[in-house]
Amino acid sequence: MHMTTTAPNDPRWLQVHRTPTQLPDVPYVPTDDAVVSVMLHLARVTPADTVYDLGCGDGRIVIAAARLGARAVGVDIDLQRIKECDWNAKRAGVQDRVQFVRASLFDIDIRPASVVTLYLLTHLNLKLRPKLLFDLQPGSRIVTNFFEMGDWPPDQTITAYKRTLNLYVIPTWIQGPWHCTIATPGRRHHMRLDLRRHYQRLTGTAILNRHSLAILGGHVDGPTLTFSLAGGPASLPATHFTATLTNSTLRGSCRTDSGATFPWCAMRPA
Ligand SMILES: C[S@@+](CC[C@H](N)C(=O)[O-])C[C@H]1O[C@@H](n2cnc3c(N)ncnc32)[C@H](O)[C@@H]1O
Repeated sequence: MHMTTTAPNDPRWLQVHRTPTQLPDVPYVPTDDAVVSVMLHLARVTPADTVYDLGCGDGRIVIAAARLGARAVGVDIDLQRIKECDWNAKRAGVQDRVQFVRASLFDIDIRPASVVTLYLLTHLNLKLRPKLLFDLQPGSRIVTNFFEMGDWPPDQTITAYKRTLNLYVIPTWIQGPWHCTIATPGRRHHMRLDLRRHYQRLTGTAILNRHSLAILGGHVDGPTLTFSLAGGPASLPATHFTATLTNSTLRGSCRTDSGATFPWCAMRPA
């Protein structure tokens, strides 16, 4: 059952779950406090965020996120850990912004999260990956302590205190056909885009003035996409596009190599 409200202490805020009976999939190894700070910095956590630590141990990531003003939720299957979390949150004086749940991390409703932190193993990250990609909003950030996400490449990797940390940004669903209008002075160009996306990599073709052009250097960063088209027969010079998807419409600007900038927008075909 999925229930979402906005108050962290509202019992309906989280998915209702059964008391877990399974053993931990990974043992408890805490992240060093200094590394916790870097993970939250890498995820760009602000008071506007809701941070979930899946497999939260003693709650240190959740409590550190709450100290930054965010709301935060910790999930752990081990009752002893959850008791420690509650005690640590009380000591830190952040009980009003945190919630700890004893549950399997695979059963929890993660849709309210804008940031997810993971210190699990690669095979558990891979098992979670479809849920992360489908349930989180585009632009949500995932930071993993050391372990990666298989063939989903990180958007950023850093090393801090000898730990490798990976940032993944949930890409928007952009694939498929788009009808575009580019407004250059005195003329509107109509372009059709057929986009394919593999994680944050964007490929496909553009049909402009009856010429088919390959999309070059396409990238999706949360709700924003960027790509280039080579200049030539299609009557536009080499052009670099950026746009953000809001309410089913792409809006942005494109810039030619000579520096001229024009607005463009795109909608799904009716
Ligand atoms: C490596 S520790 C990380 C603790 C904390 N996130 C940190 O970075 O300090 C992994 C935690 O995941 C918990 N865990 C393992 N399997 C789990 C599962 N299926 N559901 C929820 N928690 C789980 C363990 O009890 C342990 O506390």
